[in-house]
Amino acid sequence: MVVLDGKALSTTIKNEIRIEVDKIIAQGDRPPHLAAVLVGNNPASEAYVGNKVRSCEQVGFSSTLIRRPETISEEELLKIVLDLNLDPDVDGFIVQLPLPGHINEEKVTLAIDPRKDVDGFHPLNFGRMAQGLPAYLPATPQGVLLLLERNGIETSGQHVVIVGRSNIVGTPLGILMSRKDKMGNATVTMTRSRTRDLAAETRRADILVAAIGIPNFITGDMVKEGVVVIDVGINRIEDSSRKSGFRLVGDVDYDEVAPKSRAITPVPGGVGPMTVTALMLNTLKARKKEIRY
Ligand code: GUN
Repeated sequence: MVVLDGKALSTTIKNEIRIEVDKIIAQGDRPPHLAAVLVGNNPASEAYVGNKVRSCEQVGFSSTLIRRPETISEEELLKIVLDLNLDPDVDGFIVQLPLPGHINEEKVTLAIDPRKDVDGFHPLNFGRMAQGLPAYLPATPQGVLLLLERNGIETSGQHVVIVGRSNIVGTPLGILMSRKDKMGNATVTMTRSRTRDLAAETRRADILVAAIGIPNFITGDMVKEGVVVIDVGINRIEDSSRKSGFRLVGDVDYDEVAPKSRAITPVPGGVGPMTVTALMLNTLKARKKEIRY
């Protein structure tokens, strides 16, 4: 059994990005600049945005964190987005989700200039991705594909079963893996928590992706021997033995599933760091204006 070490791979890729940034600076140009908008103080969002800002420092990017209270109006938030769209010193930006209930996430996402949409959430980027045109790929699916590719795991001809069909992970990953591409050409089955006889579907997987957001949802009896398991879940569960009062677990019951797996991602240290690294890759692309619309 191989543990797919996303932490180590993300360090390797960040070093590669750093070399590119040094080249840009050596040419007399400014480094890539990522801005992040964080509304409210959801602890998980705070942690994710903190990781993004720290990663920018590691790769030599500039970063700006724009914090606003949960009470911000939709109009005020849209104004921040429009200002970032027009700011020539910002190459790309993200608005951390989820947003408070009184703000329409779809409206905010649509307001982002697709050329600066390094999350790849805008329907223009999503549609371009689906058609195989150059686009910003959403960070988590891109991170998963990098993890498979750099560990020499073939996708062509494999049966991939994805559990969870969110707009930011399951659905785009299903599209990417079924597409005619280097890390595509798989046969993809999309499932959800209430798929009829879900275990029969997951047991057919050569590559199983869990992106459902339910702690330890995939149990040992739901996988076949020799499966490759990608656990996208990052769930906080109470743990009074920890100083923080919680610990992170994935959507996969690691202790049960790992012994049956050919390869598996740990939580933490698997997909999570790869997501942040993919965002850095998108920001570098934005700086280089690599994607032509
Ligand atoms: N919330 C959870 N994941 C993400 C992400 O990748 N980007 C943004 N903006 N918000 C998120």
